[in-house]
Amino acid sequence: MPLIEAHDVYKVFGRKPQRAVERLRGGASREQLREDGYTAAVIDASFEVEQGGIFVVMGLSGSGKSTLIRMVNGLLSPTAGSLEVAGRSVSDLDSAGLRALRRDKVSMVFQHFALLPHRTVGENAAYGLKVQGVNRAEREKRAESALELVGLGGWGASLPGELSGGMRQRVGLARALAADTEVLLMDEAFSALDPLIRREMQDQLVELQHRLDKTILFITHDLNEAMRLGDQIAMMRDGRIVQVGTAEQILNDPANDYVAQFVQDVDRTRILTASSVMEPPVATLGLEQGPRAAHRLMREHQVASLMVVDRNRRLHGVVTDDATAAAVTRGVDTLDGLITPAVTTGPGTAVAELFTAAADSPVPLAVVAEDHRLLGVIPRVTLLNALGAGASAEVTMLPSGPDDTARNATEVPA
Ligand SMILES: Nc1ncnc2c1ncn2[C@@H]1O[C@H](COP(=O)(O)OP(=O)(O)OP(=O)(O)O)[C@@H](O)[C@H]1O
Ligand SMILES: [Mg+2]
Repeated sequence: MPLIEAHDVYKVFGRKPQRAVERLRGGASREQLREDGYTAAVIDASFEVEQGGIFVVMGLSGSGKSTLIRMVNGLLSPTAGSLEVAGRSVSDLDSAGLRALRRDKVSMVFQHFALLPHRTVGENAAYGLKVQGVNRAEREKRAESALELVGLGGWGASLPGELSGGMRQRVGLARALAADTEVLLMDEAFSALDPLIRREMQDQLVELQHRLDKTILFITHDLNEAMRLGDQIAMMRDGRIVQVGTAEQILNDPANDYVAQFVQDVDRTRILTASSVMEPPVATLGLEQGPRAAHRLMREHQVASLMVVDRNRRLHGVVTDDATAAAVTRGVDTLDGLITPAVTTGPGTAVAELFTAAADSPVPLAVVAEDHRLLGVIPRVTLLNALGAGASAEVTMLPSGPDDTARNATEVPA
């Protein structure tokens, strides 16, 4: 069951907003409504956030991201539609229910959240707990371990003024973590940070998510941040969610021209992974087979090499047409001595990191699982195609041997 579930959610600001929703449902545009004094901040939004992982809502300024997230923790109520957190409809909660929701289920980190300047870092981190009525000893313990988690162990007794901007933002994160809720809402939480510190915080957040298995709803207007953090990304435009998918899905299969335009400048090679560009091998050679069989297979499939696998599809290496042809001529009937090591990579490796390996390898790269099972192959042409338009910088880095491209091109037909 999803932890957060939104169905056909609308939020319209203005007088008698229900009417505006009816008009939107009838096909009226956001602009038409604006002329009549309405702001349609969120229009017909539906999405589900599964437990665990980071769900990113990405969109330009004014696209409705903050409005959406504020409905999730009940700071705003939807004009229409339903929003459930942990199976409870947020709009059905009374004020006591909402307080319980924010105490037990969801905490929020803002872009500019106010640290209390005359309270220590520890007290600031424990702030939410005090409001919750947690006793002092427990508060201090939880605040200290939350500070530890964000790399501020030992800073508990300092005053906020002694911290850098990045460290202060970490206190905000620690405050949310100390509350130990299942869901963390983060609204542009890193946007005010310097690029380097921001990058560091992103890495740390991903690590924390893995370690603590929280469900994080993260808002950003930075596409690279969205792609780096999001297990799932919802793209918002003018109040509507126009696509939900993984970074790879959004890059490979943008829902419309708007998304396509948006993602065109992204460095695809850092987002796409080996598993998304690999292909099934057209043929593999069994370990027990001989050079003749290898030769025949390669001729039949018009390839210049074959991956050699055992019965469990574990990869043992690669044989080339040159080696097998020579062996056949000499009358050799085993693969002994013909198998050379394959260049391998894991399925999660970024495509950007594959170029050096590919450049050194006349045969396709082998993508293998941890137990060395062969998952797929990546011929060099595929790697180049995966780049698509707009990533020519990397292409020129590839050394190109004279017959190399042609050879690989026939290895696995596209
Ligand atoms: N309380 C409010 N009353 C009236 N209009 C509002 C209110 N809150 C937000 N809006 C409007 O709703 C639209 C969406 O705002 P929202 O803050 O959700 O966008 P956002 O995507 O978070 O933008 P940003 O990236 O700038 O934070 C905007 O046009 C905004 O002016
Ligand atoms: Mg906002």
